[in-house]
Amino acid sequence: MSETFNSKGHWDGIYEAKQIGDFSWYQAVPSSSLESIKELKLSHDAKIIDAGGGDTYLVDYLLEQGYNSLTVLDISSKAIARAKERLGKNADKVEWVVSNVIDFHADVQYDLWHDRAAFHFLTQPADIKKYLEIVRNHIKKDGYLLIATFSENGPKKCSGIEIKQYSLTALQQTFQAHFDCIRSENMDHTTPSGAVQNFSFCVFQPN
Ligand SMILES: C[S@@+](CC[C@H](N)C(=O)[O-])C[C@H]1O[C@@H](n2cnc3c(N)ncnc32)[C@H](O)[C@@H]1O
Repeated sequence: MSETFNSKGHWDGIYEAKQIGDFSWYQAVPSSSLESIKELKLSHDAKIIDAGGGDTYLVDYLLEQGYNSLTVLDISSKAIARAKERLGKNADKVEWVVSNVIDFHADVQYDLWHDRAAFHFLTQPADIKKYLEIVRNHIKKDGYLLIATFSENGPKKCSGIEIKQYSLTALQQTFQAHFDCIRSENMDHTTPSGAVQNFSFCVFQPN
């Protein structure tokens, strides 16, 4: 990802300019992620991180379902502040991290690393390599990595920013040195303005 498009200021500006329901990525209910997470049959103590979670509702639903070790990471402090405000007292049950994902380090390994529509903003090989190292180091041996990116039939940009498209095969190849794909699917997301965006969605386990 180039510095221009990667900056915290850029994302903060986006979060200052619009409300949650105006974002192209908005989902009133993040059903695809929730259904996949349900299938993993994780315990309520499972350590789950939503990388590039922004101020979306996945964390709300996971809290409601009883998950008690949730982390939301985002480059935008504005996004995190909005999510915290929305959750009120429940925000205290979540660990919040403002960081560029490629600078992230924690002395924790997660049972699930979830990333919907954040990884694909990494367009530079060096940044993708850093991301791969980070997920490799932060996911338990029997943990899971769930990644959703725009597919080869999806948009080439998001919020005016160039993204890297992945076919299901390309996504699997990107992670294959350290992760096996256990489920993959293309799925359509309809934006609030009615546009259809095709995603590549893969669940991986360390190999
Ligand atoms: C398209 S939104 C997706 C939000 C959410 N994951 C969803 O699916 O609704 C991308 C999010 O990733 C965050 N983001 C982009 N680049 C990032 C980076 N390098 N590190 C951490 N977060 C990043 C943005 O601030 C934004 O909240």
